[in-house]
Amino acid sequence: MSTRAIEVRGLVKKFGGVAAVDHVDLTVERGEFLSLLGPSGCGKTTTLRMIGGLESPTEGSIHIGGRDVSGVSPNRRPTSMVFQDYALFPHMSVADNIAFGLKMRGIALAERRRRAEEMLEVVNLAGFGARKPAQLSGGQRQRVALARSLVVEPDVLLLDEPLGALDALIRRQMQSELHRLQRRLGLTFMYVTHDQEEAMAMSDRIVVMHGGRIAQEGVPEDVYRRPRSEFVARFLGECNLIPTTIVKREAPAIVAENALVGRFSVPATRVASGLGPGDRALAAIRPEDIRLGDLPGSIPGKVVERSYLGARTRYVIDVGGATIVAAEQSSGATVGEEVGIWWPEDAVSLVTPDSGSTPAGETRR
Ligand SMILES: Nc1ncnc2c1ncn2[C@@H]1O[C@H](COP(=O)(O)OP(=O)(O)OP(=O)(O)O)[C@@H](O)[C@H]1O
Ligand SMILES: [Mg+2]
Repeated sequence: MSTRAIEVRGLVKKFGGVAAVDHVDLTVERGEFLSLLGPSGCGKTTTLRMIGGLESPTEGSIHIGGRDVSGVSPNRRPTSMVFQDYALFPHMSVADNIAFGLKMRGIALAERRRRAEEMLEVVNLAGFGARKPAQLSGGQRQRVALARSLVVEPDVLLLDEPLGALDALIRRQMQSELHRLQRRLGLTFMYVTHDQEEAMAMSDRIVVMHGGRIAQEGVPEDVYRRPRSEFVARFLGECNLIPTTIVKREAPAIVAENALVGRFSVPATRVASGLGPGDRALAAIRPEDIRLGDLPGSIPGKVVERSYLGARTRYVIDVGGATIVAAEQSSGATVGEEVGIWWPEDAVSLVTPDSGSTPAGETRR
C-alpha cells in the first residue's frame, strides 16, 4: 500500500466562473495529522468536500490510498467527515446515532450495538448510549459526532472545524483528546480550521491557504518561525514587519538593508524564494524574539505601551518613528523608559509584502 493517504494534484473548483480552489497540490501521509488553515472564504471547506466526494472538482485529480476516486460516491470512499454543527439525529439515541453508518452498510443489530459501545468507550462516553443528543453538552455531542465517523473505520477522517461551536476551555480539552485519539488509533486526519493556535497545537503539518491557493506548508514551527509572505507571517500571529530592501546575494546568505539596522545578512534558507537584489521585502520578527535590555548592538528605543498578558508582558517600543512589539516573560521596563532592543540573528525572515488586495470573498474572522 502507498504511504500516501491522500494525493491531490492541480485541484480546481469554480463556482460560476470564480475559482474557490485554485490549483491546489497537496499530500497527506498515512497516520499524519494535517491541518488546512486559512481565513474565512479561502477555500478550505471546498477542498475538504471535494476529497470527501461531496463536491466534484472542476479540474484536477484526487487519489486516496493510491486509488483515483473521481466518480466514486462519498459513502464508497475510505473517508468519513465530521462537521462543525455535529449533524446528529435528534430523535435517535446516542448509541443509534453512532451505529447509523453501520446500519447503512447492512451490519447486523448485535454487531452494531457492540461496536457502538466500543466507540462510546473510545470517546469517553461509556454509559451515555441511551441518552438523546439534547441531553448532552456541546463537547459531549461533538464526541458523539466523532464516534459516529470513527465507527465505520475510515482510512481518513476529514474534519471541518469540528470544535468551532465549543467555548475556549472545552475546546482546548477536546483538542488534546482528538490529538491523543488520532495517535492511539493511528488515523490519518485532515483537519480544517481558521484558528492558527489550534492548528499549531495539534498538527504534524500545516497547509496555509489564501485565495484558493496554498500560501505555505510545513511543520508548525517552520510556518510560524520561517514565514515566506506577509500574509503567512500575520496570519500565524503577531509579527513585526520592517520594510527592507534586498541588496545582494552573498551565498549562502542574502544581504539586505533597512532604516532600523542598516545592512545585515540573512541565511538564504530564511528568505522567500523569488526575492532578488533591488526587491522590496519585509523583515519579519516575532515579538517573543525581541529582547529588552542594553545588550551589545542593541537599538535604542522608548517604551510607549505596556500590557500585562499573564504569561508574558507585551511592550510597544518606539524606535525613531517606527514601532516594534516585544513580548517578554518578565522585564521591569515601564512606559516612558528608555530601553535597548535586540534580537538574535536567526529570528529574522525576509518575506514578500502583500499586494494589498484581499481575494474576493475572503475575510479574516
Ligand atoms: N456552493 C457554492 N456556490 C458558490 N460559491 C461558493 C459555494 N461554496 C463556496 N463558495 C465560495 O467559495 C469560496 C470558498 O468557500 P469555502 O467554504 O471553501 O471557504 P472556507 O475556507 O471553508 O471558509 P470558512 O472558514 O468561512 O468556512 C467562498 O468565496 C465561497 O463564497
Ligand atoms: Mg469552511
